[in-house]
Amino acid sequence: MDNLDTLGRPLRDLRISVTDRCNFRCVYCMPREVFGPDFQFLDRDELLTYEEIVRFAKIAVESGVEKIRITGGEPLVRRDLPLLIQNLKKLEDLKDLTLTTNGALLADLAAPLYDAGLSRITVSLDSLDEDIFREMTDSTVSVQTVLKGIEEAQKVGLTPIKINVVVKRGVNEQSIVPIARYFKDLGHIVRFIEFMDVGNTNAWSLEKVVPAQEILEAINAELPIEAIQANYRGEVAQRYRYLDGSGEFGVITSITQPFCGDCTRARLSPEGELFTCLFGSTGYDFRSLLRTGASDDQIMKELVSLWGRRTDKYSELRTAATQDLIRVEMSHIGG
Ligand code: GTP
Ligand code: 5AD
Ligand code: SF4
Ligand code: SF4
Repeated sequence: MDNLDTLGRPLRDLRISVTDRCNFRCVYCMPREVFGPDFQFLDRDELLTYEEIVRFAKIAVESGVEKIRITGGEPLVRRDLPLLIQNLKKLEDLKDLTLTTNGALLADLAAPLYDAGLSRITVSLDSLDEDIFREMTDSTVSVQTVLKGIEEAQKVGLTPIKINVVVKRGVNEQSIVPIARYFKDLGHIVRFIEFMDVGNTNAWSLEKVVPAQEILEAINAELPIEAIQANYRGEVAQRYRYLDGSGEFGVITSITQPFCGDCTRARLSPEGELFTCLFGSTGYDFRSLLRTGASDDQIMKELVSLWGRRTDKYSELRTAATQDLIRVEMSHIGG
């Protein structure tokens, strides 16, 4: 029987953030002024261990979760990540195991991750232009390094590969069409994401959002497209195909067309707090339960009860007033 929240939405996806650290400082996620040398990241003993993560994931799968996505921060900076994948892969009834990465370390890790049982991968890349890329990620890693990672992922079979592109007004609009063209030719699926008001540090404002409609028009002007059906109920991206049959891409419209009605996602933070919305201010502390001898049954009861109380629909309620709420940072619970 499905575990439903107060709006009738089942629990289906678990996104697990394995670290709050990252080797990039994307301006829309971890601006260096805030996440500088003095920023207090979590200590090692605060992080859930891999054993704790797998135990929680097993309980979540028994409660209805079918899909797990590993996130961060940047998940590939956490040591021995393939070991975690190997153990999550063993969970019966888990249908999809994937990961979102910035690609900086992917060239070396693609093969071990694939061997450990990862099915596919999503790579964030906001521009093919080195200057724009550097401005957006505030790092010294080059576009070439990320492309090398993507190439390696394809070579070992971490497919289909998806490419996440956050679009910010006045920064990378001119990258939209080149990125669409480049990855369509490689057979990867790009998703253009509207810049979102996650967290409280990224200086978000509506003027900096490029609406998906505008992105679609820019692409259609050069590469004719049409809308296609979602793969499954609650899919985050709206899908489009190129009329010449050369592939597909998507747009993620959290700002202009919120999709909370079908949201089946829960997010586990690196220290074991469960957030039932990307824009939540507090999470439910499962680490305490995991570390104080609670049984699997007790933990499942808490999870089902937390989900049963869930009312979240932040994107649909977004107003000037909600801008003042304290929200968890994207780098803490992943995208
Ligand atoms: P597939 O499994 O390939 O369908 O991917 P997905 O739909 O789970 O998308 P992915 O995890 O790659 O998410 C892409 C981006 O969409 C994230 O990085 C976020 O920026 C945004 N996003 C994902 N889930 C949510 C959500 O629940 N709410 C909002 N507002 N944005 C989300
Ligand atoms: N708005 C939209 N997307 C974001 N991401 C990070 N911060 C934001 C934001 N403010 C995306 C990243 C990555 C994923 C984890 O979330 O580009 O693809
Ligand atoms: Fe790091 Fe991803 Fe955030 Fe960029 S968006 S700072 S790569 S966690
Ligand atoms: Fe789900 Fe919250 Fe995003 Fe709405 S805003 S889709 S409830 S995570």
